[in-house]
Amino acid sequence: MNIVPQLYDESNFLQQKDANELFTSIAEEFRNRKVKSVIDVGCGTGNVTADILRFTDCDKLIAFDKSDSMIEFARQRHRNAKISFQIADICDEWSKLKSDINLNEEVDVVFSVHCLHWITDKAKAIENISKMLKPGGQCYALLFFWSDILPLQEQITHFPKWNKYFSHLEKSDVTTTDKCLSPGKQRRRSSAPFPVYLRSDEQATINEWKSLCDSSGFSETQVSVKKSVFCFDDFTGFKDEVTSLCHFLRYIPDTLKQEFLNDYFDHVKNCYTSDQKIHPKVELRYECLIICATKSANKETVQDQ
Ligand SMILES: C[S@@+](CC[C@H](N)C(=O)[O-])C[C@H]1O[C@@H](n2cnc3c(N)ncnc32)[C@H](O)[C@@H]1O
Repeated sequence: MNIVPQLYDESNFLQQKDANELFTSIAEEFRNRKVKSVIDVGCGTGNVTADILRFTDCDKLIAFDKSDSMIEFARQRHRNAKISFQIADICDEWSKLKSDINLNEEVDVVFSVHCLHWITDKAKAIENISKMLKPGGQCYALLFFWSDILPLQEQITHFPKWNKYFSHLEKSDVTTTDKCLSPGKQRRRSSAPFPVYLRSDEQATINEWKSLCDSSGFSETQVSVKKSVFCFDDFTGFKDEVTSLCHFLRYIPDTLKQEFLNDYFDHVKNCYTSDQKIHPKVELRYECLIICATKSANKETVQDQ
Protein backbone atom coordinates (compact mmCIF):
# COMPACT_ATOMS: atom_id res chain seq x y z
CA MET A 1 0.00 0.00 0.00
CA ASN A 2 1.15 3.54 -0.60
CA ILE A 3 -0.58 5.84 1.83
CA VAL A 4 0.20 9.55 1.79
CA PRO A 5 0.96 10.24 5.49
CA GLN A 6 -0.24 13.86 5.66
CA LEU A 7 -3.56 13.17 3.95
CA TYR A 8 -4.11 10.00 5.98
CA ASP A 9 -3.33 11.78 9.25
CA GLU A 10 -5.81 14.55 8.48
CA SER A 11 -8.59 12.21 7.42
CA ASN A 12 -8.45 8.99 9.47
CA PHE A 13 -11.43 9.86 11.71
CA LEU A 14 -13.04 6.50 10.96
CA GLN A 15 -10.00 4.58 12.24
CA GLN A 16 -9.75 6.79 15.33
CA LYS A 17 -13.44 6.25 16.07
CA ASP A 18 -13.08 2.47 15.72
CA ALA A 19 -10.01 2.47 17.98
CA ASN A 20 -11.82 4.48 20.63
CA GLU A 21 -14.87 2.20 20.48
CA LEU A 22 -12.54 -0.77 20.97
CA PHE A 23 -10.90 0.91 23.99
CA THR A 24 -14.31 1.72 25.46
CA SER A 25 -15.41 -1.90 25.07
CA ILE A 26 -12.40 -3.19 27.04
CA ALA A 27 -12.06 -0.29 29.50
CA GLU A 28 -13.47 -2.31 32.40
CA GLU A 29 -10.75 -4.97 32.04
CA PHE A 30 -8.07 -2.29 32.15
CA ARG A 31 -9.54 -0.15 34.93
CA ASN A 32 -7.42 -1.39 37.81
CA ARG A 33 -4.62 -2.90 35.83
CA LYS A 34 -1.10 -1.58 35.45
CA VAL A 35 0.06 -2.19 31.89
CA LYS A 36 3.81 -1.81 31.61
CA SER A 37 4.48 -2.35 27.93
CA VAL A 38 2.48 -2.30 24.71
CA ILE A 39 3.14 -2.82 21.00
CA ASP A 40 1.09 -1.14 18.27
CA VAL A 41 1.30 -3.08 14.98
CA GLY A 42 0.86 -1.00 11.82
CA CYS A 43 0.77 2.32 13.67
CA GLY A 44 0.58 4.55 10.59
CA THR A 45 1.02 8.22 11.42
CA GLY A 46 0.66 7.54 15.14
CA ASN A 47 -2.54 9.30 16.15
CA VAL A 48 -4.14 6.00 17.21
CA THR A 49 -0.84 5.16 18.97
CA ALA A 50 -1.20 8.36 21.00
CA ASP A 51 -4.75 7.27 21.92
CA ILE A 52 -3.38 3.87 23.07
CA LEU A 53 -0.96 5.66 25.35
CA ARG A 54 -3.78 7.76 26.83
CA PHE A 55 -5.91 4.61 27.26
CA THR A 56 -3.32 2.36 28.94
CA ASP A 57 -0.89 4.89 30.41
CA CYS A 58 1.79 2.25 29.87
CA ASP A 59 5.47 2.86 30.62
CA LYS A 60 6.68 1.82 27.18
CA LEU A 61 4.98 1.69 23.79
CA ILE A 62 6.69 0.29 20.70
CA ALA A 63 4.79 1.37 17.58
CA PHE A 64 5.90 0.06 14.23
CA ASP A 65 4.90 0.21 10.61
CA LYS A 66 6.25 -1.19 7.37
CA SER A 67 6.14 2.22 5.70
CA ASP A 68 9.15 4.46 6.34
CA SER A 69 7.21 7.58 5.36
CA MET A 70 4.50 6.82 7.93
CA ILE A 71 7.12 6.30 10.64
CA GLU A 72 9.00 9.45 9.65
CA PHE A 73 5.74 11.40 9.95
CA ALA A 74 4.83 9.74 13.28
CA ARG A 75 8.25 10.52 14.79
CA GLN A 76 7.91 14.20 13.89
CA ARG A 77 4.31 14.47 15.06
CA HIS A 78 4.39 12.50 18.33
CA ARG A 79 7.51 13.19 20.36
CA ASN A 80 7.02 11.28 23.57
CA ALA A 81 9.72 9.51 25.57
CA LYS A 82 7.42 6.54 26.16
CA ILE A 83 6.84 5.87 22.46
CA SER A 84 9.43 4.33 20.18
CA PHE A 85 8.42 4.40 16.49
CA GLN A 86 10.16 1.78 14.33
CA ILE A 87 10.09 0.61 10.74
CA ALA A 88 9.27 -3.11 10.65
CA ASP A 89 7.10 -5.65 8.87
CA ILE A 90 4.82 -7.87 10.98
CA CYS A 91 5.30 -10.68 8.43
CA ASP A 92 9.11 -10.76 8.65
CA GLU A 93 11.06 -13.58 10.21
CA TRP A 94 10.95 -13.26 13.98
CA SER A 95 14.67 -12.63 14.50
CA LYS A 96 14.58 -9.69 12.05
CA LEU A 97 11.34 -8.27 13.39
CA LYS A 98 12.52 -8.50 16.98
CA SER A 99 15.71 -6.69 16.10
CA ASP A 100 13.92 -4.04 13.98
CA ILE A 101 11.63 -3.10 16.86
CA ASN A 102 14.38 -3.40 19.51
CA LEU A 103 12.35 -5.82 21.58
CA ASN A 104 14.23 -6.92 24.70
CA GLU A 105 11.34 -8.21 26.73
CA GLU A 106 7.91 -9.57 25.91
CA VAL A 107 5.07 -7.08 26.35
CA ASP A 108 1.71 -7.10 28.17
CA VAL A 109 -0.57 -6.08 25.31
CA VAL A 110 -0.45 -5.89 21.52
CA PHE A 111 -2.89 -3.63 19.67
CA SER A 112 -3.35 -3.47 15.94
CA VAL A 113 -5.93 -1.12 14.43
CA HIS A 114 -6.92 -1.20 10.76
CA CYS A 115 -3.72 -2.94 9.66
CA LEU A 116 -4.00 -6.71 9.43
CA HIS A 117 -6.31 -6.71 6.39
CA TRP A 118 -3.36 -5.44 4.32
CA ILE A 119 -1.16 -8.43 4.98
CA THR A 120 -1.02 -11.64 3.02
CA ASP A 121 0.72 -13.94 5.52
CA LYS A 122 -1.79 -14.01 8.37
CA ALA A 123 -0.22 -17.06 10.02
CA LYS A 124 3.18 -15.36 10.26
CA ALA A 125 1.63 -12.18 11.65
CA ILE A 126 -0.27 -14.03 14.39
CA GLU A 127 2.75 -16.17 15.22
CA ASN A 128 4.88 -13.02 15.58
CA ILE A 129 2.26 -11.28 17.70
CA SER A 130 2.21 -14.30 20.00
CA LYS A 131 6.00 -14.17 20.31
CA MET A 132 5.83 -10.49 21.31
CA LEU A 133 3.57 -11.27 24.26
CA LYS A 134 4.24 -12.47 27.78
CA PRO A 135 2.31 -15.58 28.81
CA GLY A 136 -1.15 -14.29 29.76
CA GLY A 137 -0.62 -11.20 27.57
CA GLN A 138 -3.40 -10.02 25.29
CA CYS A 139 -3.82 -9.14 21.66
CA TYR A 140 -6.59 -6.82 20.43
CA ALA A 141 -6.75 -6.50 16.66
CA LEU A 142 -9.33 -4.62 14.66
CA LEU A 143 -9.22 -5.06 10.91
CA PHE A 144 -11.34 -4.12 7.96
CA PHE A 145 -13.51 -6.97 6.76
CA TRP A 146 -15.81 -5.58 4.13
CA SER A 147 -17.47 -2.50 2.72
CA ASP A 148 -20.05 -2.30 0.00
CA ILE A 149 -17.93 0.45 -1.58
CA LEU A 150 -15.21 -2.08 -2.50
CA PRO A 151 -16.90 -3.42 -5.62
CA LEU A 152 -16.78 0.10 -7.08
CA GLN A 153 -12.99 -0.11 -7.08
CA GLU A 154 -13.21 -3.26 -9.14
CA GLN A 155 -15.67 -1.66 -11.51
CA ILE A 156 -13.50 1.32 -12.35
CA THR A 157 -10.59 -0.93 -13.30
CA HIS A 158 -12.85 -2.22 -16.09
CA PHE A 159 -13.73 1.21 -17.49
CA PRO A 160 -12.36 1.28 -21.10
CA LYS A 161 -10.31 4.39 -20.27
CA TRP A 162 -8.54 2.75 -17.32
CA ASN A 163 -8.60 -0.94 -18.12
CA LYS A 164 -5.08 -1.05 -19.61
CA TYR A 165 -3.47 0.02 -16.33
CA PHE A 166 -4.89 -3.00 -14.52
CA SER A 167 -4.57 -5.71 -17.15
CA HIS A 168 -1.51 -7.24 -15.44
CA LEU A 169 -3.40 -7.96 -12.24
CA GLU A 170 -4.28 -11.52 -11.46
CA LYS A 171 -7.81 -12.48 -12.44
CA SER A 172 -10.12 -14.73 -10.53
CA ASP A 173 -12.36 -17.16 -12.36
CA VAL A 174 -15.54 -15.93 -10.70
CA THR A 175 -18.22 -15.23 -13.27
CA THR A 176 -19.75 -11.92 -12.44
CA THR A 177 -23.26 -11.14 -11.35
CA ASP A 178 -22.22 -7.54 -10.91
CA LYS A 179 -24.49 -5.28 -12.96
CA CYS A 180 -21.66 -2.84 -13.68
CA LEU A 181 -19.52 -5.53 -15.33
CA SER A 182 -20.50 -7.22 -18.56
CA PRO A 183 -21.61 -10.85 -18.12
CA GLY A 184 -18.81 -13.38 -17.98
CA LYS A 185 -16.18 -10.75 -17.33
CA GLN A 186 -13.54 -11.93 -14.93
CA ARG A 187 -12.83 -10.13 -11.71
CA ARG A 188 -9.42 -8.87 -10.76
CA ARG A 189 -8.10 -10.07 -7.47
CA SER A 190 -5.71 -7.30 -6.62
CA SER A 191 -7.34 -4.02 -7.50
CA ALA A 192 -8.72 -3.51 -4.01
CA PRO A 193 -6.60 -3.48 -0.83
CA PHE A 194 -7.62 -7.06 -0.22
CA PRO A 195 -6.40 -10.13 -2.07
CA VAL A 196 -9.98 -10.88 -3.02
CA TYR A 197 -12.48 -8.07 -2.84
CA LEU A 198 -15.56 -10.26 -2.85
CA ARG A 199 -17.18 -10.46 0.55
CA SER A 200 -15.62 -13.39 2.37
CA ASP A 201 -17.74 -15.92 4.19
CA GLU A 202 -18.13 -14.45 7.67
CA GLN A 203 -18.06 -17.66 9.71
CA ALA A 204 -15.22 -19.14 7.64
CA THR A 205 -13.15 -16.00 8.22
CA ILE A 206 -13.85 -16.07 11.95
CA ASN A 207 -12.88 -19.74 12.09
CA GLU A 208 -9.70 -19.10 10.11
CA TRP A 209 -8.48 -16.39 12.50
CA LYS A 210 -9.47 -18.47 15.55
CA SER A 211 -7.57 -21.45 14.28
CA LEU A 212 -4.49 -19.30 13.49
CA CYS A 213 -4.59 -17.94 17.06
CA ASP A 214 -5.05 -21.42 18.55
CA SER A 215 -2.07 -22.80 16.68
CA SER A 216 0.12 -19.86 17.73
CA GLY A 217 -0.28 -20.37 21.46
CA PHE A 218 -3.36 -18.25 22.15
CA SER A 219 -6.30 -19.42 24.21
CA GLU A 220 -9.67 -17.76 24.87
CA THR A 221 -9.75 -16.29 21.39
CA GLN A 222 -12.84 -14.32 20.46
CA VAL A 223 -13.40 -13.14 16.90
CA SER A 224 -16.46 -11.14 15.90
CA VAL A 225 -17.69 -9.02 13.03
CA LYS A 226 -18.87 -5.51 13.84
CA LYS A 227 -21.08 -3.71 11.35
CA SER A 228 -20.64 0.06 11.29
CA VAL A 229 -21.62 3.19 9.47
CA PHE A 230 -19.30 6.17 9.50
CA CYS A 231 -20.84 9.52 8.70
CA PHE A 232 -18.52 12.04 7.05
CA ASP A 233 -19.49 15.70 7.36
CA ASP A 234 -19.22 16.18 3.62
CA PHE A 235 -18.04 14.55 0.41
CA THR A 236 -14.56 16.13 0.76
CA GLY A 237 -13.90 14.36 4.08
CA PHE A 238 -15.10 11.08 2.61
CA LYS A 239 -12.97 11.62 -0.51
CA ASP A 240 -9.82 12.43 1.47
CA GLU A 241 -10.12 9.29 3.60
CA VAL A 242 -10.79 7.04 0.60
CA THR A 243 -8.03 8.70 -1.47
CA SER A 244 -5.47 8.35 1.31
CA LEU A 245 -6.00 4.57 1.22
CA CYS A 246 -6.40 4.30 -2.54
CA HIS A 247 -4.27 1.25 -3.18
CA PHE A 248 -4.93 1.01 -6.90
CA LEU A 249 -3.80 4.58 -7.61
CA ARG A 250 -0.23 3.31 -7.79
CA TYR A 251 -0.95 1.65 -11.14
CA ILE A 252 -1.90 4.98 -12.73
CA PRO A 253 0.80 7.33 -14.13
CA ASP A 254 1.34 10.43 -12.02
CA THR A 255 0.03 12.77 -14.71
CA LEU A 256 -3.31 10.91 -14.81
CA LYS A 257 -3.85 10.25 -11.12
CA GLN A 258 -6.13 13.25 -10.55
CA GLU A 259 -8.24 12.44 -13.61
CA PHE A 260 -8.54 8.85 -12.43
CA LEU A 261 -9.66 9.98 -8.98
CA ASN A 262 -12.21 12.36 -10.53
CA ASP A 263 -13.68 9.48 -12.56
CA TYR A 264 -13.65 7.18 -9.55
CA PHE A 265 -15.48 9.65 -7.32
CA ASP A 266 -18.01 10.44 -10.08
CA HIS A 267 -18.68 6.71 -10.19
CA VAL A 268 -19.00 6.62 -6.40
CA LYS A 269 -21.45 9.55 -6.55
CA ASN A 270 -23.54 7.76 -9.18
CA CYS A 271 -23.56 4.33 -7.59
CA TYR A 272 -23.06 4.79 -3.85
CA THR A 273 -23.98 8.16 -2.46
CA SER A 274 -26.74 9.22 -4.89
CA ASP A 275 -29.48 7.56 -2.83
CA GLN A 276 -28.22 8.97 0.49
CA LYS A 277 -30.62 11.68 1.60
CA ILE A 278 -28.33 13.28 4.14
CA HIS A 279 -26.56 15.87 1.99
CA PRO A 280 -23.92 17.24 2.58
CA LYS A 281 -23.08 14.28 4.84
CA VAL A 282 -21.89 10.98 3.40
CA GLU A 283 -22.22 7.57 4.99
CA LEU A 284 -19.73 4.75 4.54
CA ARG A 285 -21.07 1.30 5.39
CA TYR A 286 -18.40 -1.16 6.47
CA GLU A 287 -17.64 -4.13 8.68
CA CYS A 288 -14.65 -4.89 10.87
CA LEU A 289 -13.30 -8.05 12.42
CA ILE A 290 -12.36 -7.77 16.07
CA ILE A 291 -9.94 -10.32 17.48
CA CYS A 292 -9.37 -10.56 21.24
CA ALA A 293 -6.91 -13.29 22.20
CA THR A 294 -4.97 -14.17 25.33
CA LYS A 295 -1.64 -15.95 25.13
CA SER A 296 -1.73 -19.18 27.11
CA ALA A 297 -0.26 -18.57 30.54
CA ASN A 298 1.58 -21.87 30.55
CA LYS A 299 3.37 -21.30 27.26
CA GLU A 300 7.13 -21.20 27.39
CA THR A 301 8.58 -17.89 26.27
CA VAL A 302 9.26 -18.08 22.58
CA GLN A 303 11.21 -14.91 22.29
CA ASP A 304 14.40 -16.48 21.03
CA GLN A 305 12.97 -19.29 18.90
C1 LIG B 1 -4.91 2.17 7.46
S1 LIG B 1 -3.33 2.32 8.19
C2 LIG B 1 -3.75 2.23 9.92
C3 LIG B 1 -2.81 3.05 10.74
C4 LIG B 1 -3.17 3.20 12.22
N1 LIG B 1 -3.15 1.95 12.94
C5 LIG B 1 -4.53 3.82 12.34
O1 LIG B 1 -5.46 3.14 12.81
O2 LIG B 1 -4.70 4.98 11.94
C6 LIG B 1 -2.59 0.74 7.92
C7 LIG B 1 -1.11 0.73 8.21
O3 LIG B 1 -0.65 -0.61 8.21
C8 LIG B 1 0.67 -0.59 7.70
N2 LIG B 1 1.03 -1.94 7.27
C9 LIG B 1 0.56 -2.65 6.23
N3 LIG B 1 1.15 -3.84 6.14
C10 LIG B 1 2.02 -3.91 7.17
C11 LIG B 1 2.94 -4.89 7.62
N4 LIG B 1 3.07 -6.05 6.95
N5 LIG B 1 3.69 -4.65 8.71
C12 LIG B 1 3.56 -3.46 9.38
N6 LIG B 1 2.72 -2.48 8.99
C13 LIG B 1 1.96 -2.70 7.91
C14 LIG B 1 0.61 0.41 6.57
O4 LIG B 1 1.88 0.87 6.17
C15 LIG B 1 -0.29 1.47 7.16
O5 LIG B 1 0.43 2.51 7.74
